[in-house]
Amino acid sequence: MAKNTTSLRGKDVLGLKDFSKEEIRLVLDTAKGMKDIIHRDIKKVPALRGKSIVTLFYEPSTRTRTSFETAGKYLGADVVNVTAGTSSIIKGESLRDTLYTLQVMGFDAIVMRHKAEGAAAYAAKVADPVIINAGDGAHAHPSQGLLNLFTIEEHKGHLEGLKAAIIGDISHSRVARSDIQGMRKMGIEVHLAGPKTLLPRYLFEEPGIFVHDRIEEAIKDADVINVLRIQLERQKSGLFPSMREYARIFGLNEKRLTLAKDDVLILHPGPMNKGLEISPYVAYGSNSAIQEQVQNGVAVRMALLALTLTGGND
Ligand code: CP
Repeated sequence: MAKNTTSLRGKDVLGLKDFSKEEIRLVLDTAKGMKDIIHRDIKKVPALRGKSIVTLFYEPSTRTRTSFETAGKYLGADVVNVTAGTSSIIKGESLRDTLYTLQVMGFDAIVMRHKAEGAAAYAAKVADPVIINAGDGAHAHPSQGLLNLFTIEEHKGHLEGLKAAIIGDISHSRVARSDIQGMRKMGIEVHLAGPKTLLPRYLFEEPGIFVHDRIEEAIKDADVINVLRIQLERQKSGLFPSMREYARIFGLNEKRLTLAKDDVLILHPGPMNKGLEISPYVAYGSNSAIQEQVQNGVAVRMALLALTLTGGND
């Protein structure tokens, strides 16, 4: 097999739209080696010794923030966390001034989550450290898209030619956008289903992407089903009638699961609303890789940090 000569050194990770197929392949292959480190007794290598990383989160997070922190520490970097509620952000400090403050302290990478779409792209424009987007509004969540691809490939052995269904609030989901971009680049056929108010057809229909009104059509013979978290505030804004109605029409339950392939892989980015978008039976059943996604998140984020900060060869 030809060596992948792609380099991500110095690249800002803003969205999978900016990633080539070769760059995605490099991250997935690097993450395989990183996963071995997580399983060692001593989970520490010096790949990023001397590097410093700050996580800057303006929105809540359990998985993403913790896994970036863990990833940096496993690679020997110094990692510091800044959250909006406990920093000078609540005194009114602007994003730009916060970024400059972190930059002059000498951080090599800023991993940031912000409610505004484009916040990470703005940061990449005004600040020198590598910027890794850990979620910006409904725009992108590239490390989640990559860890989903990694988990799928681990189970299926390949990506090209698979059928994936993505179910739920596609419109407001940065996970869905990153999934769609990553999956299409790697040759996965994507089928979307959700309430019409949460899935405008015109935004998504293009080659390789199919929009369905009914979940049953989307998940039929699927290799992978990615169930999205329903953002409960959408109900208050009238975008779906009631939780019970949503669960009845779009919830992934035991009965519906039989429509997909027997070995269908169930993904969910978390946190889950069990009994709403996904039944406990499906969430914890033998087809579910939801817990593995969390562990793979550490491996993929180790790969992203190593590749962007050192090129992966130091
Ligand atoms: N999947 C995800 O982004 O989870 P957190 O909000 O817990 O980081």
